[in-house]
Amino acid sequence: MADNFSGKRCVVTGAGSGIGRALAIDLAGQGAMLALSDIDETGLRETERLIDDASTNRIRFDLLNVADADAIKAYAETVQESLGDADYVFNVAGLTRLGSFEESSLEAFEAIMDVNFWGVVRMSKAFLPQLIRTRGGIVNISSVFGVIGFPGQSHYCASKFAVRGFNETIAQELEDKGVAVTSVHPGGVKTNIARNAKLDAHPVGFQSREKLEKKFDKAAITSPEKAAAIILAGAAKRKRRVLVGSDARIISFVQRLFPARYPGLLRLLLPSVKD
Ligand SMILES: NC(=O)c1ccc[n+]([C@@H]2O[C@H](COP(=O)([O-])OP(=O)(O)OC[C@H]3O[C@@H](n4cnc5c(N)ncnc54)[C@H](O)[C@@H]3O)[C@@H](O)[C@H]2O)c1
Repeated sequence: MADNFSGKRCVVTGAGSGIGRALAIDLAGQGAMLALSDIDETGLRETERLIDDASTNRIRFDLLNVADADAIKAYAETVQESLGDADYVFNVAGLTRLGSFEESSLEAFEAIMDVNFWGVVRMSKAFLPQLIRTRGGIVNISSVFGVIGFPGQSHYCASKFAVRGFNETIAQELEDKGVAVTSVHPGGVKTNIARNAKLDAHPVGFQSREKLEKKFDKAAITSPEKAAAIILAGAAKRKRRVLVGSDARIISFVQRLFPARYPGLLRLLLPSVKD
């Protein structure tokens, strides 16, 4: 295992499950100093248990809601005081829900944007002075749904397209300051995201939670550990764009070739995308 992050101060949101937890465990194994957070205390405690040397004082665990602007400002100061300036911030916390735009309330839409988009912006802003001092890196998790639109996911796709636009812009702005910005676009990764998703009454393409979970399990071809390894390799190389999984590579390729006709083509190419 490469240890590009040995001794680096890494901040990871959403560390209580899935991709965030896998990143935390990988980074801990590489000897990074870690500030791990999540809104879910049980999940965060489980991550702590899974990290062998969590008893050492180079890893801190904090409850943090990325929708809380004041809490994020205070958190950035606390992390700086206890560990020093951050070298990397991994913005991983996120959630989704299933439902058509017609059926979705504006409040539900805003709640997704608040976490998936504004959470990323708030964290990036709060830690930016530290990252400029360390000439570090921001690693923001978008999605393949930041590359293509997908029925039943208008809020999620909007939030992930917004993250991509944000990433691709600040990557250019921050280049001269020595801060790398990596936009990460995973395909299906076997995590709790579908199980944690809220469903509107008539979610597009899924008559039930069972159908959603079955479809997700079939589509999620990458393990969180593999996803973390790909993300860390990309971040270490200071790549601007990281696609996670062969599904993400196919989706990105087809979208670029057929920007208007990709929905039908992807249904043919990736059976798991079919309803
Ligand atoms: N799993 C996939 O197939 C997939 C694909 C593309 C992108 N992503 C993105 O990867 C990221 C991680 O998702 P995952 O698949 O590991 O899902 P997950 O549900 O397993 O983990 C997400 C974590 O984010 C935390 N979280 C949710 N709201 C939060 C908030 N307001 N403040 C702080 N933490 C909060 C949850 O408690 C959870 O621990 C998300 O941004 C997701 O959109 C996932």
